[in-house]
Amino acid sequence: MSRTPVSMKCAKMSSSWICVMLCCTVMMSLVNAYPNLIYTTSKDIRMANMSKSTRINVIVKDLIEGSALDFYYKGSLICWADHGQESIQCVSYNGTHASNKVAILNTGIITPDGLACDWLTKKIYWTDGDTNRIEVASLDGKYRKVLYWEDIDQPRAVALVPMDGYVSS
Ligand SMILES: *[C@@H]1O[C@H](CO)[C@@H](O)[C@H](O)[C@H]1NC(C)=O
Ligand SMILES: *[C@@H]1O[C@H](CO)[C@@H](O)[C@H](O)[C@H]1NC(C)=O
Repeated sequence: MSRTPVSMKCAKMSSSWICVMLCCTVMMSLVNAYPNLIYTTSKDIRMANMSKSTRINVIVKDLIEGSALDFYYKGSLICWADHGQESIQCVSYNGTHASNKVAILNTGIITPDGLACDWLTKKIYWTDGDTNRIEVASLDGKYRKVLYWEDIDQPRAVALVPMDGYVSS
């Protein structure tokens, strides 16, 4: 069975607000008590201020094919997977400026569709639909480990419940 990655579907449509909301990875964060929506259009990463006068800022540019996205709030990190670059990258973001991109993982990453940051242990988990693995590493890319590789077919998403120690795919 072959499925089109979520970000590919989105790329074919116009990059309208609705398309992004329905198709792409969305994350909510709270900054200054206003919810902020962080999402990727696959070519960039944007943050929408959801106060009455919605403002959208592009915070990271020039992605090849961004897919999954998550953030580590306490460390001001935004991390995402890029299919085109076959890597997982992060920037630190202070509310107005993003640092240069850092590829924390760039080997053995082919189809990373799901990604989640564990804010308690400062780790990043991701799925790879090509290698059929779920892996983990620290947020600086060290201590990489394959967690699951058997009886998995095209994993596409991963979610964590760090307080209870759960990983769900
Ligand atoms: C969002 O917009 C509100 C009202 O315009 C503003 O007070 C707030 O600082 C903004 N938040 C961010 C993170 O820019
Ligand atoms: C964020 O970083 C930029 C560039 O280093 C700096 O000019 C700006 O003042 C910083 N903003 C905050 C809120 O720290």
